[in-house]
Amino acid sequence: MTKRACVIGWPIEHSRSPAIHGHWLATYGIDGTYTKEAVRPENVRAFLASLASCGLSGCNVTAPHKQAALAAADHKDASALAIGAANTLWLESGRLCASNTDAYGFMTNLARSAPGWDRIDAPVAVLGAGGAARAIVHGLLEAGVTEIRLFNRTHGRAEELARSYGPRVKAYPWSEREQRARDAGLLINTTSLGMVHAEPLDMDIAALRDDAVVVDIVYVPLETDLLARARARGLRVVDGLGMLLYQAVPGFETWFGVKPEVTPELRALIVADIEGR
Ligand code: ATR
Repeated sequence: MTKRACVIGWPIEHSRSPAIHGHWLATYGIDGTYTKEAVRPENVRAFLASLASCGLSGCNVTAPHKQAALAAADHKDASALAIGAANTLWLESGRLCASNTDAYGFMTNLARSAPGWDRIDAPVAVLGAGGAARAIVHGLLEAGVTEIRLFNRTHGRAEELARSYGPRVKAYPWSEREQRARDAGLLINTTSLGMVHAEPLDMDIAALRDDAVVVDIVYVPLETDLLARARARGLRVVDGLGMLLYQAVPGFETWFGVKPEVTPELRALIVADIEGR
């Protein structure tokens, strides 16, 4: 029987998930479909309640439904509970199960793209305190990072995030980002600064350590101004596309029964899409 999954969001037109999962379905010769569904916020609960009757094995969830998806689930795994949002749902004996694979996606990509990043015995600096930052901080803490310095334009959000994760996470004013990130081994931009149509991130990186790794989760454009400057300085850089590709792995395995590979071929396919080729 054809296995079916989808991604829901509002809006959903720009989601790259169908291209990622479609590539894997074709690669592994699986009898399955993966579509995108525009679901209005007021219809999320009804949509999720109808998964089984629609013949769906589960779905990915993107903005603005990640919190509603968690609330609607009967079973929530540790990552979804810690992050407070769900991006991957599936049915198990009729029960709706929820996970958040963003932390897995971020950490797996980091390990592949900057091996040895965790050998640098230094704090991690995280810019931003939104949903993506929550997932990334969770992943970093699970990996054993001992000090995370958070900077956010709206300081209260950084304080709240730090409080919810405990003493290894400290919030500092946005204006102190340059000075307090100097000795960081890893600098991560989780804000939307640097994204196409947004302003670039205003942060001088001249004083960063020579062995620092700079990560941006923005992937349109693939090479943000931050990454271009870090590369020019000779630092190791990690772009945002890898996180998007790796976060899709657990869902595909759950719905379709094969753990898929993130290959250069898949990456090239999505890069071509981003670059409008
Ligand atoms: P996501 O779920 O992708 O993390 P989000 O929750 O909307 O999205 O978070 C966006 C992040 O980008 C926030 O940290 C936001 O800062 P605020 O909490 O102050 O809004 C940050 N951000 C967006 N525009 C910004 C700007 N012009 N300057 C600094 N930070 C900005």
